[in-house]
Amino acid sequence: MRNLVYYVAASLDGYIAGPAGEYDALLAEGDHMDAIYARYPDTVPTAAAAALGIEQPGEVFDTVLMGWNTYAVGLSFGVTSPYSHLRQVVFSRSRSAEGDRLDVTADDPVDVVRALKQEQGADIWLCGGGGLAAALVDEIDRLVLKVNPVLFGAGIPLFAGDAYRPRDFELTSSTPYGSGVTIAEYSRRSG
Ligand SMILES: NC(=O)c1ccc[n+]([C@@H]2O[C@H](COP(=O)([O-])OP(=O)(O)OC[C@H]3O[C@@H](n4cnc5c(N)ncnc54)[C@H](OP(=O)(O)O)[C@@H]3O)[C@@H](O)[C@H]2O)c1
Repeated sequence: MRNLVYYVAASLDGYIAGPAGEYDALLAEGDHMDAIYARYPDTVPTAAAAALGIEQPGEVFDTVLMGWNTYAVGLSFGVTSPYSHLRQVVFSRSRSAEGDRLDVTADDPVDVVRALKQEQGADIWLCGGGGLAAALVDEIDRLVLKVNPVLFGAGIPLFAGDAYRPRDFELTSSTPYGSGVTIAEYSRRSG
């Protein structure tokens, strides 16, 4: 069965953006980017990949899930379909949008993910944000955290608004880069 993978950049203290959505302190340059382009090319925005000459075969991910606030970051720049090389599903109970290979749905994210997992294909990328991740926390099979060497102190957490309830993951790889970013990968511990 295909996995749901929360692949996301985070600060040392577990934030994926600042309180007002700031993300400029998360490093977008450095040797970790070469590793991302090689291992996770499907996570690069379509236009950026074209500009950089990165091929996006959809072999790692063929579907991306976004909460409305995450999708809205691109919308504010006029980008209606940021990952048009993938099937894009945006969750909102109240809003709609039109874009190439993009669906906005008010359906329960857990139901949507369980249905997607029954389909054939590559893994499903949970892009974020913290609100959608909290709704999907028990469906996540793998975590890929790009841990940046910075403390935010406040902001959008990896998982928003969830009551204290530890879930176990095991570390499957951890690679430090000269940029200061560590890419840490985890799988949900079974049983
Ligand atoms: N560091 C990274 O790699 C990374 C990655 C992704 C995002 N981010 C950042 O994260 C921030 C956004 O995160 P966020 O936590 O504020 O928001 P989010 O999870 O992106 O979006 C939240 C919205 O999604 C919809 N939603 C959430 N749960 C839902 C459910 N169960 N059913 C239906 N719709 C649901 C709701 O939209 P409606 O209110 O319209 O119903 C909700 O307001 C942005 O600043 C973005 O830049 C960072």
